[in-house]
Amino acid sequence: MYPIVKKEKLADKIYLMDVKAPRVAQYCEPGQFVIVKMDEKGERIPLTICDYNREEGTITIVFQIVGASTERMAALEEGDVFSDFAGPLGCASELVGEELEALKKKRILFIAGGVGTAPVYPQVKWLHEHGVACDVIMGARTKDLLILEEEMRAAAANLYVTTDDGSYGFHGVGTAQLQALWDEGVRYDHCVAIGPMIMMKFVCVLTKKLGLKTIVSMNPIMVDGTGMCGACRIMVGGDVKFACVDGPEFDGHLVDFDQAMKRQAQYKTEEGRAMLKLQEGSTHHGGCGMCK
Ligand code: NAD
Ligand code: FES
Repeated sequence: MYPIVKKEKLADKIYLMDVKAPRVAQYCEPGQFVIVKMDEKGERIPLTICDYNREEGTITIVFQIVGASTERMAALEEGDVFSDFAGPLGCASELVGEELEALKKKRILFIAGGVGTAPVYPQVKWLHEHGVACDVIMGARTKDLLILEEEMRAAAANLYVTTDDGSYGFHGVGTAQLQALWDEGVRYDHCVAIGPMIMMKFVCVLTKKLGLKTIVSMNPIMVDGTGMCGACRIMVGGDVKFACVDGPEFDGHLVDFDQAMKRQAQYKTEEGRAMLKLQEGSTHHGGCGMCK
């Protein structure tokens, strides 16, 4: 059992929890995710790790209420337990595996959208702790929906906050802020964009034009997180990939976002899933891909 040692409401329908999971906390790296289950029969919910404390053996998760399972999860309190807390899963962020001296020479930018700010934070914190400076653009629809601003301000070299409605910070979305910086002559070598699919798509449209390499996190399309359900099948540079096994991070300029978003909508209905299974044959699953 995995007890909740802290619970905090960050914004409307957005919650943070610290969960005691020493083994996961010992081995996890920024960019990886966990799968949580509230009880034996509960839905498996994949969540990107927002922070970890190896000494205390805790993992921080941030989630948004989007359906019945997350609604039930939001009702849990400190002292309640998860029956399952599997991880760390997926590949660590590409940046964490690079030579520190090479990283220090790079001008790195993160673009975080809404709840996507949570998975951006551990990467920014890790770089800061290893002496690598990076800039962050974080945006939300309105001021009250901004999360982790203080934490991000402490770790980023420059933090640019945006709101779609102009209630706080730059008035506009993250792509508009990046374009404004670029117009002022600010340049980057590497960008990581994490947020809603539509945001990641448009960040990639812009950064392709600017010639700025961009990594995205395809966590939003995961369902069971095991490579078995086939939900997170995407096309990357013409190849079939599974976000939960091969990712969650990918080169955003190679991801077919239109196909991924269309497929995500289709996957929601039983009829849609049956059609995808028929069309995709042995490549429908991400496990071995060979099951009959
Ligand atoms: P949201 O719809 O409120 O959007 C958040 C921000 O994204 C906006 O304020 C804006 O700054 C930016 N954005 C949205 N559309 C854009 C566009 N077309 N161009 C440029 N920027 C745009 O999102 P939310 O309700 O805070 O968060 C929920 C979403 O976050 C879900 O779609 C979820 O899948 C996604 N999410 C993604 C990850 C990940 O790993 N990629 C992790 C957690 C959550
Ligand atoms: Fe099910 Fe990846 S989430 S195959």
